Amino acid sequence: MSFIAFMDPRERPPPSNVMIHSAMTTEEARALMEQWTQSPALRVHMEAVAACMGAYAETLDPNQRDRWIICGLLHDFDYEKHPTAEEHPFVGVKHLESLGVGEEIRTAILGHADYSGVARETPMAKALFAVDELSGFIVACSKVRPDGIQSLAPKSVKKKLKDKAFAAAVNRADIATGIEELTPLMHERGHAGFDQTAHIQACIDAIRGESERLDV
Ligand SMILES: [Fe+2]
Ligand SMILES: [Fe+2]
Repeated sequence: MSFIAFMDPRERPPPSNVMIHSAMTTEEARALMEQWTQSPALRVHMEAVAACMGAYAETLDPNQRDRWIICGLLHDFDYEKHPTAEEHPFVGVKHLESLGVGEEIRTAILGHADYSGVARETPMAKALFAVDELSGFIVACSKVRPDGIQSLAPKSVKKKLKDKAFAAAVNRADIATGIEELTPLMHERGHAGFDQTAHIQACIDAIRGESERLDV
């Protein structure tokens, strides 16, 4: 795999006669993620987050859609090998740095772990945090429905969020914080009606778009 020169353009050295490869592709990011992650559930989680990131990129950063998808695909790629708060996502981010992955993606990945203390300042970082726990929750909701995600609506997701026994490992406070951080940004960008329901719907739609591949 060629990750050389997958760097933020601002960090790139001036062109030389050394061949510069194009940016890391989503397929290269997926291959890296699958190389580090054997768990089907964890792979599906990263794919679901990537689908949601792709959807939000269309609104917030349309020219960088692939970068946003790559951020989603890689945000937990080190988790299976390094699950502790001492290591995840720091080990992964360090590896990405060695591959030349740009600062925006690395900082967003650090920011998805609240305990890292890294502020979520960019739209990418805010979106990643807002979709991370929620996409896991949407997949969990789909698993208990006869038609999976096909007829899932925000109303039933919200009902399940209030049921503390359902998917108890999903952090409801993080979901709420994510929406709080994303909402002003969406309003600024002209999406005046954006709220919790709109966010849940956007994530359902994004994951549903990949439902066959992800088996949800
Ligand atoms: Fe994580
Ligand atoms: Fe995650």
